[in-house]
Amino acid sequence: AALAGVVEYRNVTFAYPGAESPVLSNISFTARPGQTVAIIGSTGAGKTSLLSLLPRLYDPVEGEVLLDGVPVSRLDRAEITKRVALVPQRPYLFSGTIEHNLRFGKSEATDRELWDALRVAQGESFVRDKKNGLDARIAQGGTNVSGGQRQRLCIARALVTKPRVYLFDDSFSALDVATDARLRAALKQTTADATVIIVAQRVSTITEADQILVLDNGRIVDRGTHEELLETSPTYQEIVES
Ligand code: GTP
Ligand code: MG
Repeated sequence: AALAGVVEYRNVTFAYPGAESPVLSNISFTARPGQTVAIIGSTGAGKTSLLSLLPRLYDPVEGEVLLDGVPVSRLDRAEITKRVALVPQRPYLFSGTIEHNLRFGKSEATDRELWDALRVAQGESFVRDKKNGLDARIAQGGTNVSGGQRQRLCIARALVTKPRVYLFDDSFSALDVATDARLRAALKQTTADATVIIVAQRVSTITEADQILVLDNGRIVDRGTHEELLETSPTYQEIVES
């Protein structure tokens, strides 16, 4: 199917413009619709850089990133944005109402779709509690909502666009463990047919992933399920114990 949402990184090496050494080396993996692929690794390992190549915030210096078999270098960004939603590590809200912020990626969404997205993102109750609901004002940068609320609004914004591929960059770290668990359970239902790539700090966020990539210093050093990695990967064991 043309719009399935298969993501493939093929021998990808990446260096930031002007930097001499690569931050990603020879990255290869495939994420298919219905699957969750998780990326874990210490700070600076290259997780955010890896995600940034699919929506073409940057392009690899070697290798290819493919979406449904087509190199993303041949797609324009608008086309990619329709299919891929990135929830960035530092989620950004702009000055305007909650509604404006949620409709950012899809202006024609109905109110019903906005509330559905908020419910999945565990943001329904705090928006309802605001006097003006969806019309409540957000300050520039989202400084008048908490970090966790900001994350949940940005997750809801991604859900509203109904993409084929979700990229979550450490999107659950500002949430308490119970909210994180509820959100992921709701997401699992809503995104059941989509391709999900999750960068996580907490191992508890990704134990159910179909495949976990252990990233160390820009390389995938180990891959497998949680159970497999507990047996085979010293690097993963260190992360679990930390
Ligand atoms: P955490 O989010 O802290 O867990 O790290 P990460 O795994 O997401 O690492 P990230 O991909 O952000 O960074 C990988 C390497 O790239 C690090 O050595 C960074 O210093 C470097 N880096 C990140 N962003 C930039 C950038 O915009 N320019 C340059 N030149 N280097 C960058
Ligand atoms: Mg990061």
